[in-house]
Amino acid sequence: MDREGMLEKGRLRLEWAAANMPVLKAIRARFEREKPFEGLKVGMALHTEAKTGVLALTIAAGGARVRLASCNPLSTDDSVALALREIHGMEVFAKKGETQEEYYGNLNSVLDMGPDYVVDDGADLIAMLHTSRRDALKNVKGANEETTTGVIRLRSMASAGKLEFPVIAVNDAKMKFLFDNRYGTGQSTFDGWMNATNLMVSGKSVVVAGYGWCGKGVAMRAAGLGANVTVTEVDPIKAIEARMDGFSVARMVDAVRTADAVITVTGCKGVIGPAELKAMKDGCILSNAGHFDNEIDKEALAAMSRKVERVRDFVDRYTFEDGREIHLIADGRLVNLAAGQGHPAEIMDMSFSVQALALEHMVRNHSKMAKGVHGVPPEIDEAIARTKLASMGIEIDALSDEQREYIEGWEEGT
Ligand code: ADE
Repeated sequence: MDREGMLEKGRLRLEWAAANMPVLKAIRARFEREKPFEGLKVGMALHTEAKTGVLALTIAAGGARVRLASCNPLSTDDSVALALREIHGMEVFAKKGETQEEYYGNLNSVLDMGPDYVVDDGADLIAMLHTSRRDALKNVKGANEETTTGVIRLRSMASAGKLEFPVIAVNDAKMKFLFDNRYGTGQSTFDGWMNATNLMVSGKSVVVAGYGWCGKGVAMRAAGLGANVTVTEVDPIKAIEARMDGFSVARMVDAVRTADAVITVTGCKGVIGPAELKAMKDGCILSNAGHFDNEIDKEALAAMSRKVERVRDFVDRYTFEDGREIHLIADGRLVNLAAGQGHPAEIMDMSFSVQALALEHMVRNHSKMAKGVHGVPPEIDEAIARTKLASMGIEIDALSDEQREYIEGWEEGT
């Protein structure tokens, strides 16, 4: 596609996403009037695709100067990056398929602006501010973190006494994890998986590694598409939850013997290692929906192979010494963004509305907030839920005064 075609594609993708993000649209209209970020610099590292573009434009509409990089080398939609640069004049540092060096170069470009606030996904920007880019640390008043992996990382930093500013755990807001992690990851994982393979899910034995909110969504969608689903877990309570939700539960090394596909979504490394690869069924398709590309041990995969070939746009076939063929989608990077288009717009409408309002809250309150990880104020969750419901044309009941008194009381009921 030529440059003009790319630009038009990006413009239309941004327009389509925005049209399906009504809550964020209302926030943007208010930001345009009130300019809560006037004179501030906001550095962002998120998956640079259409919905993220709408968030970045919302923050810019609030008066901020924004710099945006991707938080994963394979998750950029180049058409959107181009449209953000050319049409909206935004400073975007991102390219699909960037090398590791380019990836960190782009994060550094974001930090070179000396941001007042940071919006991160996976905590790479925040980690750099505390290591290689301490020069930019002094100007940062606070940050937001989008994802489970990032929040876990930041909690580790905070408990080691290393986190030097307040961070809002956007991931932990109900309006984020209940929908984005579950329904968003559930749908977009199969968007990427099917785009990469053009194969049936129905009738396959699919193993889902991890039964957190994302794993729950992936297992639910796999079952909905007709797969026979097995869940693997290390947490005994989540394992029982998976069993009672109707899934088989097994150890990974046993589950891979009959698996047609394995999808990792644990947030931990080495979920598929040499032992699992040794036991794996011929033809198995591996993919990852967790934040980092270390859930599937790619070094072990390469070491066991005598041949690696790219057989489709996002699929590599590894031929083992014993003749088995194992497929890996998108280099083990986030399948939903590397081979698909990320979460649906209606989902990111909620997640990114939490981001926008949490950033506004941080700007207003940072001086009163201690260093460390903070929750999203429940009023933000509730306001977004009410606007979302209204946008869906759904009305709900309200408690009467008498009911409220009853529900808030503690005396013996009659
Ligand atoms: N689009 C933008 N950010 C995303 C995320 N964290 N997950 C899935 N899709 C996205």
